[in-house]
Amino acid sequence: MVAVEQGNMADLLEVKEVSKSFRVKSGEVRAVDGVSLRARKGEVTVILGPSGSGKTTLLYLIGSLERPDAGEINAFGEDICRPDADLIAYRRKRVGFVFQMFNLIPSLTALENVTLPMDLDGVPSEEQRGRAEKLLAGMGIEGRLLRARASRMSGGEKQRVAIARALANDPDLILADEPTGNLDSASGRVVVDILAGLARREGKCVLIVTHDESILRAADWAYQMRDGKLRGIEV
Ligand SMILES: Nc1ncnc2c1ncn2[C@@H]1O[C@H](COP(=O)(O)OP(=O)(O)O)[C@@H](O)[C@H]1O
Ligand SMILES: [Mg+2]
Repeated sequence: MVAVEQGNMADLLEVKEVSKSFRVKSGEVRAVDGVSLRARKGEVTVILGPSGSGKTTLLYLIGSLERPDAGEINAFGEDICRPDADLIAYRRKRVGFVFQMFNLIPSLTALENVTLPMDLDGVPSEEQRGRAEKLLAGMGIEGRLLRARASRMSGGEKQRVAIARALANDPDLILADEPTGNLDSASGRVVVDILAGLARREGKCVLIVTHDESILRAADWAYQMRDGKLRGIEV
């Protein structure tokens, strides 16, 4: 009985009644207001919401870049809200972030952008390059592109490098914040298909927040976010 429970927990991201407010000049903004959700490895969860609805804050809470004021977050058997949780290890090894603006280091090459987090995580240097090349090949980044500086790449190429970087330390969870926000619709479709593939083929837990309704086609589970609150929608 206990073993079964633990088995399930290891595949599950569980957010329970999480809230986060920010103090602003005019008072307080409740960016995330009593949000609960469950997401599993191997599945794509999409949260749709307009600008200002709290999507980025929720993603940052799940990625432990922000701490909740209230509530619990259990990521694959690990309570990340415990005061003694090892959040640095969690961020480095369990979570990969994908951002709207790509957030690559422009002067570094595709390869260097992907090996950097491996370096930070102490992956032996002789392993880094092979691993990075493999991840980039999986994103269709090969040949001359491997040594192209990020600043010279198209938006679609940058986002595919950014996804390879997010995978550098083989995380359980991919958190994508408006991943198609700066892409034309064709490159956006490629990026969404790649993210969905990471769930289907690699068993990642993929969570995408966006205002782009076309991403719903990739969703196993979907929610609407509005004024910090979440409600499930049919897909
Ligand atoms: N660091 C912050 N300080 C103050 N207010 C913030 C901060 N981050 C977010 N907010 C506010 O919280 C609300 C939700 O923001 P955000 O999570 O960025 O929404 P979204 O990603 O859906 O656009 C907004 O009203 C925003 O202005
Ligand atoms: Mg946002």
